[in-house]
Amino acid sequence: MTALLDVVNLRTSFPTPSGLVRAVDGVNLKVEPGGSVGIVGESGSGKSVLSLTIMGLVACPPAIITADKIEFEGRDLSHASQAQWRGVRGNRLAMIFQDPMTSLNPFLTVGDQLAEPLIVHRQASAADARNKAKELLQRVGIPAASERLDAYPHQFSGGMRQRVMIAMAMACEPALIIADEPTTALDVTVQAQILDLMREIRESAGTAFVLITHDMGVAAGFCDEINVMYAGRVVERGSTRSIFRDPRHPYTKALLESVPRLDDPPGGRFLPIPGQPPDLTSLPVGCSYAPRCRWVQPGCLETAPTLVPVENDPARTKACFVDMADPKGQV
Ligand SMILES: Nc1ncnc2c1ncn2[C@@H]1O[C@H](COP(=O)(O)OP(=O)(O)O)[C@@H](O)[C@H]1O
Ligand SMILES: [Mg+2]
Repeated sequence: MTALLDVVNLRTSFPTPSGLVRAVDGVNLKVEPGGSVGIVGESGSGKSVLSLTIMGLVACPPAIITADKIEFEGRDLSHASQAQWRGVRGNRLAMIFQDPMTSLNPFLTVGDQLAEPLIVHRQASAADARNKAKELLQRVGIPAASERLDAYPHQFSGGMRQRVMIAMAMACEPALIIADEPTTALDVTVQAQILDLMREIRESAGTAFVLITHDMGVAAGFCDEINVMYAGRVVERGSTRSIFRDPRHPYTKALLESVPRLDDPPGGRFLPIPGQPPDLTSLPVGCSYAPRCRWVQPGCLETAPTLVPVENDPARTKACFVDMADPKGQV
């Protein structure tokens, strides 16, 4: 099966007065049709820059973008013009952002915004686009869809606005939706409803998803595969089940331990990750997680580990020299 999205060795950097910020530093990402891939990491790890680069939404210059491959549905997008991007974005490839208020136009009715991609990409007539817009609102669970078409974004609650964003993303029946922290701004109940809706779309329409989140719990409930990002790199990748059952990278383990759980003992087992992510303008020579790592070995400070298959589990890759079960064993 050919991958829907195949990204190889993607780098996105920003020149700044204090140096070059290496926001995404050699990331590979593959998404199969209908798949659901999670990208998890602390704030500042490069998740949004990665997704915006894949969507062709990072202005370049000033940014510097290089990749061996950015292929979507068999088309090379690494040298796509703005016009080619406009043909793909919002059509076969759509995006949902954390804050619908900044991505929805406050001056246009929800109906007009929903109709736009249909008119642009599908050459729909105004009447057909309005009908389809109504169906889309119904599809994402907005009550009284006909009347709500003429409402403005501020007249919707946060959860309802996120539903409108999802309806917009779905308008042209995309093959892939990239959702960047789609539930972070919502309270827990609404968060669960939005994830349910995304899951239902995935199952019924076969849409593939890349879900970006800082929350391991959200990724666990939605994704088949998880990529753990740290300082612009993927440090561990594997099936959701294997990552949760047996994390092999110290950072993944720390992330999992920093999620509070219902069965935590009184007083908590919750362990925040000590230290700060590194300065992306001057990454350490060795492993960028070494300064915070419980298992750090002298060799970790000298060479940066690359992402390689884990012994006895070739479906899993990690960028770490240390075997956590036997820390002295490897370096
Ligand atoms: N336009 C920009 N110019 C300079 N630095 C940027 C720019 N956009 C993002 N960054 C930096 O890139 C890093 C990764 O950011 P981001 O992808 O937003 O992280 P995340 O989404 O994982 O929280 C951060 O250090 C951020 O400050
Ligand atoms: Mg982000």
